[in-house]
Amino acid sequence: MSVKTVKGAKILLLAGDGIGPEIVAEAHKVLMALPFEFEIEEALIGGAAIELYDQPLPKDTLLKAQQADLILLGAVGGPKWDALSNHLRPEKGLLQLRSALGLFANLRPAVLYPELVQASSLKPEVVSGLDIMIVRELTGGIYFGEPRGVRTLENGEQQAYNTDVYTESEIKRIARVAFELAQKRDKKLCSVDKANVLEVTQLWRKTVEALSVEYPDVVLSHMYVDNAAMQLVKAPKQFDVIVTGNLFGDILSDEAAMLTGSIGMLPSASLNGSAQGLYEPCHGSAPDIAGQGLANPLATILSLAMGLRYTLGLTDMALMIESAVKKALAQGLRTPDIYEPGLEKVGTVQMGDAVVRELKQLGGSK
Ligand code: IPM
Ligand code: MG
Repeated sequence: MSVKTVKGAKILLLAGDGIGPEIVAEAHKVLMALPFEFEIEEALIGGAAIELYDQPLPKDTLLKAQQADLILLGAVGGPKWDALSNHLRPEKGLLQLRSALGLFANLRPAVLYPELVQASSLKPEVVSGLDIMIVRELTGGIYFGEPRGVRTLENGEQQAYNTDVYTESEIKRIARVAFELAQKRDKKLCSVDKANVLEVTQLWRKTVEALSVEYPDVVLSHMYVDNAAMQLVKAPKQFDVIVTGNLFGDILSDEAAMLTGSIGMLPSASLNGSAQGLYEPCHGSAPDIAGQGLANPLATILSLAMGLRYTLGLTDMALMIESAVKKALAQGLRTPDIYEPGLEKVGTVQMGDAVVRELKQLGGSK
């Protein structure tokens, strides 16, 4: 994947629903503290768009997204829209956006910050030093496979169905991303499938295996998804890069997130072949705490850092943001999701302010 330079970079902010607007506002503050001129735009997606346009991905949003280099998204969804039919749900807006921009490669790093070792529900010795990269295929598989739907059988009973489908080329392109990432890391790649049962993942395994001859420096292993779910909580540090399909990646990345203490810490990048990227926290819209200033903005801020690294090539800036986040944590500041007694409980805005303050001290300010 090629990397663009920052000059005139267009950034689109899609706050979305629930805690989305609060956490994106904090990332926006971080962005404004960087010594660059970006073109920043905003647009609606998800429930917020349904309210105004009766659709979760309005044309205007898609157009702005197509023109943007980097898209930063908060979260979509909420109980208010749960009863809507499938094509009108807020989540559909996100799925359509991923598909329309061809964002097939979803990178979900699960990194445990030493400061948060006590926040994990697993024993410190099991998780300390954890650094896993989950590479999830994002525009294929059962999420998009046809046919799909609900039909009425002859006996009057309803039957619902989805199709899990992958072509060799779809498997190859996501596997290449994973092999290349592994080459830059600990050179270990684990491909996760259910090849003991599903034809689609038999092809997955065969294709990844065949491709591995091009990456002799990477040690490739295969694991069934049920075992992978177990190994992630038993001995997560055995993993370096994991590559898997859309549905398994959705599930395993939430599981990996919890190893790090809170899903409120996990960023993600969704990339297409030209390094255009959508960056979003792995967590959802958390309607239960929306509007209360309690959400952890760090996953969104760290997603922005990923965007600066992968899409804009601003590695130094990405490192500065990441180190500002570490410093805010080292000061003992904690949003409720990562709070431990004895430390300072802060809200969304205070956490964002702390990161900006640290960033300025590191020399990142205009
Ligand atoms: C995620 C989310 C989405 C997904 C939902 C909101 C459609 O769970 O990004 O992991 O399933 O991909
Ligand atoms: Mg998910």
